[in-house]
Amino acid sequence: MIKKVSSHKISIETFGCQMNEYDSQVARGFLEAAGFEVIGEGNGSDVYLMNTCSVREHAEDKVYSRLGKLSKIKKTKPEIIVGLMGCMVEEHKEKLFRRFPDLDFMVGTRNIKELPSLIEEVLRTRKQVAQIKRDGISIEYTDLIKRDNAFHAWLPIMTGCDKVCTYCIVPVTRGREVSMPAREVFREASRLVSEGVKHITLLGQNVNSYHGEKSVSFPQLLEMLCQIERLEQISFTTSHPHDATEELFQVIARNPKISRHFHLPLQSGSDRILKRMKRLHTYQDYKAKIDRLRELVPDISITTDMITGFSGETEEDHKATKRALEEIRFGGAYLFKYSLRPGTPAAKLPDDIPMDVKKRRHHELLEIQKRISNKDFPFGINAS
Ligand code: 5AD
Ligand code: SF4
Repeated sequence: MIKKVSSHKISIETFGCQMNEYDSQVARGFLEAAGFEVIGEGNGSDVYLMNTCSVREHAEDKVYSRLGKLSKIKKTKPEIIVGLMGCMVEEHKEKLFRRFPDLDFMVGTRNIKELPSLIEEVLRTRKQVAQIKRDGISIEYTDLIKRDNAFHAWLPIMTGCDKVCTYCIVPVTRGREVSMPAREVFREASRLVSEGVKHITLLGQNVNSYHGEKSVSFPQLLEMLCQIERLEQISFTTSHPHDATEELFQVIARNPKISRHFHLPLQSGSDRILKRMKRLHTYQDYKAKIDRLRELVPDISITTDMITGFSGETEEDHKATKRALEEIRFGGAYLFKYSLRPGTPAAKLPDDIPMDVKKRRHHELLEIQKRISNKDFPFGINAS
């Protein structure tokens, strides 16, 4: 039971990945149960809450600029309350209070449930308050969740990351890998289906390295979920090539309920760069997996993520990435310019590709992918 604490208007603005979208839906559920009125983004709220992302500098800059604007609003409306949740809170913690004196509260990814009481405390004391737990799991299953689609639901099954990709901030923000027990995932999926959900997307920063109790593997979990009768489709994101196994491909092949879309980030076509990124695969390892998956599931559409302009990337490395796009012919590709994240292993390497070169390489990759998407997939799945 959640105590009714307020009837204030609150807006929730969500940045970043699907995990954040899920967390925002959970936050909304808890806040509404406590009496808050959750309204659309924009001005006119009593409380402004942002669910933040740290993956690239640009994602953080958007939040900083929003905080700047809200500070201005506070000059004429000092009663408004401003709060943050999500990855920037996990990354910067209480330091953000010093940088933004107008920021009133912060809640960590493991403390979403405490949002109503935290806001109530701000309303009562007008002091800066934070709840940022360091341990436990940041996944909350609750029937209070406010989904915006009756037929589709996000379902986080693991969080965190034990890989060591040198560019990536996720191990800092989301910590070590933790998986939900398979029986709890099954129970929650069944509950969602009993509410009318037909399509579930399993979420995890490294979804396919899921390991449940009694070492239930990701392919085994998928097979379990396929048994839920009225569940029509199961998708999942995001996978790491290292854990994209023959067993997983076989399970996809024999279960038509599993989505024929596989998102598998490659990041670079150059082995030299993949090694500098500590990606645990070479281009040929990756390509062999894609070939095998396409052999077993001929109607699969494969999308990817690529980073351009990583530390030390030469024109030769860039050419290898272009070749990879041409050779694999992805259904879509999310293409990113490398953004150095303080606190990651790559922060010790020079960010030595000038922005104009990153932009030019990024543009070249976009053009190649656009051509492929238009030619091979004229009706869609262009993720770039
Ligand atoms: N710079 C640019 N892109 C990044 N990604 C992750 N970290 C960075 C970074 N520091 C990209 C990767 C990942 C996607 C979610 O974001 O391609 O797969
Ligand atoms: Fe952004 Fe990664 Fe955090 Fe998702 S997990 S919000 S992508 S930093």
